[in-house]
Amino acid sequence: MNGIKLRGTGRAVPTGVVTNDDLARRMDTSDEWITSRTGIKRRYRCAAETHTDLCVRAAKAALERAGVSPADIGACIVATVTPDTVVPSAACMLQRELGLPQDIPCFDLNAACTGFVYALHTMECLLNASPRRFGLVVGAEALSRIVDWTDRSTCILFGDGAGAAVVECREDWPSIGAVLGSRGDDELLRLPGLGMGEANFLSMEGTKVFKFAVEAVPACIDAVLDKAGMTAEDVDFFVFHQANARIIDLAVRKYRIPPEKYYKNIENYGNTAAASVPLVLSELEEQGRIGPGSRMLVVAFGGGLTWGGAMIEFA
Ligand code: COA
Repeated sequence: MNGIKLRGTGRAVPTGVVTNDDLARRMDTSDEWITSRTGIKRRYRCAAETHTDLCVRAAKAALERAGVSPADIGACIVATVTPDTVVPSAACMLQRELGLPQDIPCFDLNAACTGFVYALHTMECLLNASPRRFGLVVGAEALSRIVDWTDRSTCILFGDGAGAAVVECREDWPSIGAVLGSRGDDELLRLPGLGMGEANFLSMEGTKVFKFAVEAVPACIDAVLDKAGMTAEDVDFFVFHQANARIIDLAVRKYRIPPEKYYKNIENYGNTAAASVPLVLSELEEQGRIGPGSRMLVVAFGGGLTWGGAMIEFA
């Protein structure tokens, strides 16, 4: 299979910000508790913005950075669990707003927090069968709409935002070697569908999800390394899904990853689900910490349950 590489990334956040102190004024929690258990200090919350607005802004920034015209995009995937509308999909609305070609597939993908990694692999497969070389992959969430703002065990964790990547597929590039998995479980992490007669809020067994994550992350890293025929030392940068700083710290310790080879931005965003990985990629690209030649191992996990990893590079 021909492989994809990143051409450019972009991101967008809404104007609303909710700090830990804001939450502590509303419920029985504290900045100290949230910071020490999760690493989160603040999170963004959609005010006037829609999910579509975030997708459009992030995608435009990625196209600009990539120097790619919307007319050259061969497929568009939005990884999300919180689109403005289930039908039309966020990807179809993005197609309209950006003026992407009409003879290309545009669809949303739900793999919860693993969505962006699933979408990268799906895009690689699609571009292998497309006459166009470029693809648009977006991870976007408006999670503030589906968290119960009276439940201190979940609302402290999640935030809104969007990240996007323009990818290119070429014959002489290796596949990203994605490793994806899933295990159906409707108890640990659950967001009921429309018309199910249940409150439309996200619920979670936090401690059990934590346990799942600390096993899934290294299992995923090992599988990606194995598939790529590499060791952890061969990796230039580890890009972690930002769900809890402690989950990242455990992986960092296990693989003895030096500080210059990984990144945490959870302090400013909370867990933004499918947007988490591309938000990290976009900040790192802007800071010049990753770029052409960087071999990056991305790893994510989430509801479903789902997990996934891949070895990605910039073109
Ligand atoms: N502020 C203060 N106290 C809180 C609180 C909050 N926001 N949320 C829960 N608590 C309390 C609990 O009620 C409990 O009190 P008790 O001992 O009197 O019953 C105590 O803190 C410990 O709760 P617990 O749920 O065991 O805490 P924890 O150490 O497991 O941390 C999470 C909770 C949610 C931070 C942690 O489990 C976690 O991060 N899990 C993974 C979540 C995740 O990654 N989800 C997304 C997957 S993509």
